[in-house]
Amino acid sequence: MNQKRIVFSNQKGGVGKTTLTRELGIYLATLGRSVLLIDFDPQANLTRSLADDPSAGSGAGGCYEALTGQRYEQVEVQKNLFLLSGDIKMAVLEKSLIAEIDAYTRLGELLEHGSFHPFEYILIDTPPSLGVLTVNALTAAEHLVIPMNPSLYSMQGTNDLMSTVRKVKKGLYPGLGLLGVIINAYDSVPVITRQIRDEICSSFGEMVFPSVLSKSIRIEEAIALQSGVMALQKGRVKDEIIRIGVELVCRIEGSVPVTPEQHGRVRGAEVLVPSKTEV
Ligand SMILES: Nc1ncnc2c1ncn2[C@@H]1O[C@H](COP(=O)(O)OP(=O)(O)OP(=O)(O)O)[C@@H](O)[C@H]1O
Ligand SMILES: [Mg+2]
Repeated sequence: MNQKRIVFSNQKGGVGKTTLTRELGIYLATLGRSVLLIDFDPQANLTRSLADDPSAGSGAGGCYEALTGQRYEQVEVQKNLFLLSGDIKMAVLEKSLIAEIDAYTRLGELLEHGSFHPFEYILIDTPPSLGVLTVNALTAAEHLVIPMNPSLYSMQGTNDLMSTVRKVKKGLYPGLGLLGVIINAYDSVPVITRQIRDEICSSFGEMVFPSVLSKSIRIEEAIALQSGVMALQKGRVKDEIIRIGVELVCRIEGSVPVTPEQHGRVRGAEVLVPSKTEV
């Protein structure tokens, strides 16, 4: 099986890395793909948004334990959706890793272990920095997704991220490629927001996903319910996650996911993938 690994990264904080990792992971799981989410951020927001205490049952650990040779478990948090949890201890590990010779490739080496083989998709959430943890995640994945907010200074830091990506490709892992930029927390009303979106589009061109994720209180509600927006009956953000998810699968698998019963947008082989003008 050809496993797909996607890292969500942007050194800017609060742009939607965790939100998109979770929501797209849930979307892929509803398609029937087996999905592992890796919470590689010491803030552990992804973990908390999906489970109270993911290791409560078995007592086995998450990322920290896995990277330090202890017992760990990928916990099933929803059907087809598994989580390797994050923990504040990852911040300590990041400091100690710097002295190690394999500091930047630990996660990639871990993912070679047989317990990770059954997953069709591995989605990795990263901290808002370009430190050792983020470079580990970039080195372990083949696809990079950059979530961006249409706010002033949104492009700030992106050059640093792209320069890190170039270094990772050159020095450690040539397999990494930019899959796309996803605009998150979009509010179409202010003119400035639309201008910033245009600026992002002119910098990244076709790399920008045609559908945005709107700013909506539904996102916070989904976190409170630990279920994700796919569990909502209907609504704009659920629709947008499906559009973004369809685009993600198209870009990775080269064809549209056909699941008529899960979202009524698919008619036979024809799928309503949004065009740029619909954004
Ligand atoms: N589309 C949205 N609409 C409304 N709120 C959102 C949206 N996307 C994210 N948020 C909220 O904004 C906050 C930051 O989002 P998120 O945690 O996904 O960003 P992040 O890039 O992972 O942040 P960090 O850099 O701290 O890890 C969260 O409280 C989240 O619920
Ligand atoms: Mg986050």
